[in-house]
Amino acid sequence: MPDLFPEDLKRWHYFESKLTNIFNAFSVEEIRTPLLESTELFSRSVGNSSDIVNKELYSFLDRNKESICLRPEGSASVIRAIIQKKQEHEKHKLWYQGPMFRYERPQKGRFRQFHQIGVEYLGFQEGVSEYELISMVLQINQSIGISDYTLKINHLGDANAKESFCKSLVSFLEPHVNELHEKDQTRLSSNPLRVLDSKEESTIELLKNAPKFEDFISMDSKLFLEGLVSAFKDQCNIQIDQSLVRGLDYYTGIVFEAVSNELGAQDAFLGGGRYDNLSKQLGGKDMHSIGFAIGAERIIELLNMDGFSEKIKVGFIVSEQHINQKTYKIANDLRLANSGIILETFLSDGSMKSQLRKANKRRCSHAIIIGEEELKNNQAILKDLSKEGGQELLSLQDLINQYTSL
Ligand code: HAM
Repeated sequence: MPDLFPEDLKRWHYFESKLTNIFNAFSVEEIRTPLLESTELFSRSVGNSSDIVNKELYSFLDRNKESICLRPEGSASVIRAIIQKKQEHEKHKLWYQGPMFRYERPQKGRFRQFHQIGVEYLGFQEGVSEYELISMVLQINQSIGISDYTLKINHLGDANAKESFCKSLVSFLEPHVNELHEKDQTRLSSNPLRVLDSKEESTIELLKNAPKFEDFISMDSKLFLEGLVSAFKDQCNIQIDQSLVRGLDYYTGIVFEAVSNELGAQDAFLGGGRYDNLSKQLGGKDMHSIGFAIGAERIIELLNMDGFSEKIKVGFIVSEQHINQKTYKIANDLRLANSGIILETFLSDGSMKSQLRKANKRRCSHAIIIGEEELKNNQAILKDLSKEGGQELLSLQDLINQYTSL
């Protein structure tokens, strides 16, 4: 669970500002749900047999002996919130962000507390919403300079197709159970579709002859999947991946994941899909649902900051400590005059020379210098730190005017 320091958060803020612009352009509105949820919410949605619920949930009994957990993902919480507000009949385009918790074995790119930024479109049946969400994913990646990635996509069919495929996969694998890696043997009995995700050589070999999803889904689903691929193939590396099932039980229909070679073993920086049955499963009314979530730590690792321009910074230097308290109002007036500039005060810490050194180190473009004499005459010095020796003595009013137009 890494700490995030100011230098890390610069990248986070840059990323978040790009995202919020895109969400606004798509008319997607923010929702905030609690970090704590009932454990049952995730066993009924993500699935009891999934790793996320089975092994990775941070759950505990509260004082009232109710089983509570730290949320491992955001989609189930959003659906719960909409059901609770009795708004399943309405259409919603929502986004959320925040920490998620999974008790996974920590490694590069895999944390027990990590952050997701997710989008959920509710009330939109299969069709144009898939196109819109994939366009949004492409725009997000483009806006932060990520071009070298693969968008894997698959169609899981409806709930019946998924079940028939699952049965057929089990019948195929059971006679070969001893050839499977131990981990995959467990998966076969608890969550057979997850065997398709295996990274074990022997399992991969065996799966070459296994039944394929495409033989179980309808022609309409197949054509829809192919239509999506051909619509986006000129804009990104989009590939059908028959083994893409995703680790959460609630998906039916289109599923997708963006992966990058630059991330190492944990290469997925975003994943999502359609989950039309979840609302009903959680006791709500039927509600078409589709969405995706970005793993913030992973995408920020890939972020390109070329388009980032820092705000103008000005150092506020008070050259004599005993007048320090009398100058706070001048700093305040400057900040009110132009809040777009960062006015860095050193709180009269050290000599004028050392404060100037700090201003240079903090990459201030200008310094405002006030000593006893200037304060007495309602004046200040404005020094351009980019030019050797360039400075002007100004009245406070002129200083504010110049500061406003820096
Ligand atoms: P997910 O694939 O489990 O999907 O998570 C989405 C993303 O969160 C992953 O692609 C990955 O980047 C990041 N992630 C997951 N676990 C970790 C971890 N332990 N450490 C760091 N990053 C991690 C979901 O959670 C679905 N709720 C997505 C969704 C939204 N589907 C429909 N709507």
